Formats: sequence, C-alpha cells, structure tokens
Amino acid sequence: MGVRVDSERRQMLERLERMNRKAEEGGGPDAIARQHARGKLTARERVDLLLDPGTFRELDKFVVHRCNDFGMDQVRIPGDGVVTGYGRVDGRLVYLFAQDFTVFGGSLSGAYAKKICKVMDLALKNGAPVIGLNDSGGARIQEGVESLGGYADIFLRNTMASGVIPQLSTILGPCAGGAVYSPAITDFIVMTRSTSFMFVTGPDVIKAVTHEEVTQERLGGADTHTQVSGVAHFAAPDESGAIAVTRELLSYMPQNNLEEAPRKATDDPPDRIIPALDDLVPSNANKPYDIKDLVHAVADDGGFLEVQPEYAANVVVGFCRLGGRSVGVVANQPAVLAGVLDVNASIKAARFVRFCDAFNIPLWVIEDVPGFLPGTAQEFGGIIKHGAKLLYAFAEATVPKVTLITRKAYGGAYCVMNSKHLRADLNLAWPTAEIAVMGAEGAVNIIHRREIVDAADPVAKKAELVATYKERFANPYRAAELGFVDEILMPRDTRARLVEAFDALENKRDSNPPRKHGNIPL
Ligand code: HXC
Repeated sequence: MGVRVDSERRQMLERLERMNRKAEEGGGPDAIARQHARGKLTARERVDLLLDPGTFRELDKFVVHRCNDFGMDQVRIPGDGVVTGYGRVDGRLVYLFAQDFTVFGGSLSGAYAKKICKVMDLALKNGAPVIGLNDSGGARIQEGVESLGGYADIFLRNTMASGVIPQLSTILGPCAGGAVYSPAITDFIVMTRSTSFMFVTGPDVIKAVTHEEVTQERLGGADTHTQVSGVAHFAAPDESGAIAVTRELLSYMPQNNLEEAPRKATDDPPDRIIPALDDLVPSNANKPYDIKDLVHAVADDGGFLEVQPEYAANVVVGFCRLGGRSVGVVANQPAVLAGVLDVNASIKAARFVRFCDAFNIPLWVIEDVPGFLPGTAQEFGGIIKHGAKLLYAFAEATVPKVTLITRKAYGGAYCVMNSKHLRADLNLAWPTAEIAVMGAEGAVNIIHRREIVDAADPVAKKAELVATYKERFANPYRAAELGFVDEILMPRDTRARLVEAFDALENKRDSNPPRKHGNIPL
C-alpha cells in the first residue's frame, strides 16, 4: 500500500515537472533557435535579464487558447505565447508580461490577453509598476474578434492605470497594427535598434494604398521613432541595453502615485561649489552652450538619464538626482536651434512634465529660451495648441517646481517655462539672466525705429539704444524687483541652492479644483 502511494505521489510530482518543462520550452527548440538566429532572446531569457535573480514568480503558466478553428485544436501550447508574473527590480516589486514570439509569433489570443489583464489588475491593486516586453505578430489571426476584444481590454487597463502606476513598454520585436496603442498609452517606450519596429499599417498595405515604398526599418524602426515621430523614448543597440535602460528608468520612479521615488544615497556633497559654472554662459548672447553641461555638473555624481535625447533636442528632458532625490529636468537647449520652443519640443516637454507631476517627482526647469520658433510651418502645424500644452502642463503641476533662468527668458516663452505666475515655487536666476519681452536688438528696432532712421548716424544710434535697453531690461533685476524671481544667485552655488530648495519644498501640498478632468489642448 505504502509503495503504491509513493509511486502515485512521484508520478504527480513528475507530471508537474513535465508540464513545467513543456511550458518553459515555449514553441520548442527549433523555434527558439530561429528566435536566436533573428538576433533576439526568448521571453524567459528577457525576464531573467530584467528581474533580480531568482525573484520571478510566474502566473498562468498552463493557460492555453480556446480556439478550435484552422486546426488550432491540435496545437495548444501551455502559456499560449506570453509569460506573465511578478518579480523584483532592485528589490522593488514589479508586474510584467513578456510576449513569446516562438509561440504563434507571439500573436495575441483571447486567453493571452486575459493573462496580461490579470497582471495589470494585480499591479493596479497593489500599486506596483507594469513592464511589458513586446515581441508579437499582433492579433492572432485564427481567433478574429476575440483577439481584438483582448487588445481593447488591455487598452482600457492601460488607460485606467495611467498616472496611478508607472507603465513601461520595451519593444523587442514586431509591434504592429492596433497593438501599438497599448505601448503608446504607457509612460515610456524603449526600443532595440534593428530588431524592433512599430507601425499601424505595414509596408505592404502602405504600398497598396499610397504606392509609397518603405522598409519596415525606415517606417517603424527605433531610429524613426526616437528621431522622427517621437513615439519612442529610448533606442538601445541590443536587448540587454534596452532592458538595462528599463531598469534604470524604474529607479527614478515611485511604485505608484501615492508614493515618492526612492532616495539614492550619495557621497556627492549637497553643498558642492562648482566654480566652472560662473563661466558657462558665454558673454555673447548669441553664442550657444550645452545646457547638459550644467545638468551633469549639478546633479549627484554627474548622473543624468536623458529621455528622448534624439528628438526635439532643442528641449532637454530627463531624470537626475539632487541630494539623493529623484528630480525631473526640463531645460531649453541653447546648443540646438538656440533653444527655441517649437511644436515637437512643446509636446515632448509637456508629456514629461505631466509624468513627473503624476508620480510626485519634483521639477527642475532650466530656462534659456529666445521664444517660440516663428514660421508658417510652426503656425500651420498648430504651435498655438501645442505650445499651450506645455503651458497647461506646468500650470496644473502641483509637485515642487523650481526654475533657474540662466540667460534668455523672452516673451511668451518666459511665461510658459514654469514662471512664477504658473505656480512655480522658487524662481532663481543667474546674474547673466535676461528677462524681457524680447532681445535688445528686436526691441530697439520696434520702439525706436523712427529715432534710428532719423539719426545722423543710424548705426551708432542703434548701438547706443541697444546698450541702454540691455542695461535696463536685459538682466534679472527688474523681475527680482517685482518678486517674479525669488533669488539671484552665483552660478557656482547652483547645486547647493537647488538641493536646499527641494528640501524646503519637500512637504509641499497643492491641489487643483475638483473636476472630472481638465481639457488639455490635444
Ligand atoms: C497568428 C502569426 C501571426 C498572427 C505571425 N504568426 N503573426 N500567427 N497570428 N498575427 C506566426 C507565423 O504564422 C509563423 O508561424 C510564426 O508566427 C513566425 O512568423 P514568421 O512570419 O515566420 O516570422 P517573421 O518572418 O519574423 O515575421 C514576423 C511578422 C510576420 C512580421 C510579425 O509574421 C507578420 O507579418 N505577421 C502578421 C502580422 C499581422 O498582420 N498581424 C495582424 C495585425 S492586425 P509558423 O508556424 O510558420 O512558425 C492587428 C490588429 C490589432 O494586430 C488590433 C488591436 C486593436
């Protein structure tokens, strides 16, 4: 009797081991070899790269699809093409799904969608980020509308989770058709170069409809989405790079909208003086300099994770730490297009500001902006509504907000770039700041036009008027008299002042009027 029980028990245990092995081999050795030959890892290899070792707990490993059409009843693979569960990144809980291209091309069935929805629901209830590792042929064609419904179920959850828990999408293979809209709703998209692509309609359909010929790579590769469309935020050379960026991004974020981002201890002294900053801004107002030099110089240990570095580079956004605290940086970039604001820069910065505000990440805004870019391309492109997005985003943000004006703060851009009037908490300026309606040349041309024309020596007269205007208005003192600038500081003291400022704003509480939601100009 005892012997029979033992053998039955062993068979039960062996059955589980067998089933686990079967699920873990996904589409089988041949499909795995093909995946590797494409230069891609398997879903499980990716999960191992993403999570702290030994922390992955898989859910729904034995789920199979329910489709019986097209011979699908003959092929049911445990897990059904997506690996889901939870684990730890730097010791912090995350929920995740990893699409398995070796099983039906990672295509999404009804059962597969339910697995993703389950981890999303758990993440939302437990206030933890969701990470999606995407590599899929899209809707499982054999399932038809059941698959489409599954996508829409995911989109709904992406929307409900937006601003509540961080959602990150790492694209490691195809992501086409309506499937792109799940990553699009998430907070950040990381792509791999050469092996990932995203598009709503592929090259074949485009050729049939518009007769355009375009490769997958050009249409929806990482370069296109990080340089041209602005859909993606990071491009990595390979999968381990993409997953490393995903992990690093998480380190700057809280687990959810009710928490603060974790502090990171640093030996970098909070009151470190940086003499080189006194000479950062060139004396010629038309000369560029790299605003990232300032960010690196001031941030803890020089660290800065730039978001969308290759898109609308006239504005720089990203994460750094000041005194161990995670801070979102939004900076005009004088080294690109003189730092003007245009359509793309406005959208890029506005979305970043709203992310930081949703997740309690304080904002450090660095301003050196000559204004909005003039031209029909910008006006026809809707700079009015897009510039308004940035204005709206700063105005509604209730996180601690500190602005540092290094040089130009001209015109409407002065108002938009987190001015005092938009509820910025502390507005600082360097002595090199020029806070005015416009640059001295432009201003003098308008208000002294007649005087210049009538002068015996118009060139000398203009130079004299420009000098007078600069002396009177192209400085931070007018704004300081009005209290629009709280302090004019020596550039070398910037790090010390900022660390203190964010300490002083640590317990800030502010709110917006109760409403269903605002109507940001989309
Ligand atoms: C079922 C699919 C599939 C799909 C791929 N496969 N896509 N099975 N449904 N959508 C299967 C293939 O039949 C193949 O099976 C295996 O996955 C690998 O595919 P390959 O074509 O061999 O791989 P590759 O050459 O790398 O090409 C990958 C691909 C291509 C570019 C993704 O497979 C492709 O174009 N697939 C169709 C994409 C598509 O049109 N999807 C529907 C989009 S509409 P075997 O058994 O041969 O290994 C959509 C709507 C979503 O997604 C709407 C949401 C609102």
